[in-house]
Amino acid sequence: MSFEDNIRKVVPYVAGEQPEGNVIKLNTNEFPYPPSPMVATRIYDLAQDEIDSSANRLRKYPNMDADNLVRAISDVYGIDYDKIFVGVGSDDVLALCFLTYFYSDKPVLFPDITYSFYDVWGDLFRIPYERLKLDDDFRIKKEDYIGRKNGGIIIPNPNAPTGELESTEFFEDIIKNNPDSIVIVDEAYIDFGGESVLPLIDKYENLVVVQTFSKSRALAGLRIGMAFADPKTIKYLKDVKFSFNSYTMNYPSIEIGAVAVRDTEYFEKTVAMLIKTREWTKKELKRLGFHFGDSKANFVFASHEKVKAKDIYLALKDKNIYVRHWDKPRIDNHLRISIGTDDEMKKLIEALEEILK
Ligand SMILES: Cc1ncc(COP(=O)(O)O)c(C=O)c1O
Repeated sequence: MSFEDNIRKVVPYVAGEQPEGNVIKLNTNEFPYPPSPMVATRIYDLAQDEIDSSANRLRKYPNMDADNLVRAISDVYGIDYDKIFVGVGSDDVLALCFLTYFYSDKPVLFPDITYSFYDVWGDLFRIPYERLKLDDDFRIKKEDYIGRKNGGIIIPNPNAPTGELESTEFFEDIIKNNPDSIVIVDEAYIDFGGESVLPLIDKYENLVVVQTFSKSRALAGLRIGMAFADPKTIKYLKDVKFSFNSYTMNYPSIEIGAVAVRDTEYFEKTVAMLIKTREWTKKELKRLGFHFGDSKANFVFASHEKVKAKDIYLALKDKNIYVRHWDKPRIDNHLRISIGTDDEMKKLIEALEEILK
């Protein structure tokens, strides 16, 4: 017997590398353009406020409901205040969702190829789970999620890392056929060309929609994520959060996030730019012999007809271009390439032309 027998041991989630310096970083699906100019203005204003300068304001705890931020999200999304929950990035929100909604002996269901944090939370919280195999085109088989005993369901839409988007009808079928479980739709990438299932929260109490400021709103560094659901469902999540840590959202994040989300014009303009670059990148990748699905996210999940993904990944890294590769069954011959600026994607294509020569 040793003290170590009493310690919780887990295999942690492995995030993409965060190299510093002069590199082209296409490995963690960050947004390539800066956040709304309102963000810099708000940071400046917070520092200038003589009555309650930001430094002095930090003496006090932040508002525990992140009130300003939730009100801004409520205004912009047109969703009632009590149907919104915010947390420190959607990872924080999703972890709390696992803790709150997946409290059962029956397995939680999610795809075999999906966001690799789900099984980590399953293991951490000792929640049983079952990974359901995507078809050979990496599409989710809807019928797998219907009529199968489960303690909850979580699916990203578009799925990650495949980028495959499913329709609102697809999810509505799953939600209405699982009235005894919570269904979480992780919409981290929905703004890049998908239709959100958000309108369904008014119809189904068992639906929870999770989104983030880290991708389309260019604020991964601020750490803001949110969940939307029926007020009763949200209340359960808040009760768990307030049993864990009341003050997760810090004051600057609340204030800066609140102005950032209101700048819808900038948001729409930059997202449209990214989508245009994604479609250009797809054409170029196809020309170079890559195969991939019709990604509706800010990344493309591609394999090459001749050269192994790992070799391409390493050769790109040699040229200071970072993309994501996993040494995992079924996806080890794929690369997930985040969409950067036009200039970054041109450099990527030039590098690939040289590598594949
Ligand atoms: C599907 C999916 N969900 C959630 C997240 C977490 O994002 P964040 O915690 O930055 O909001 C990611 C991040 O890459 C993701 O790919």
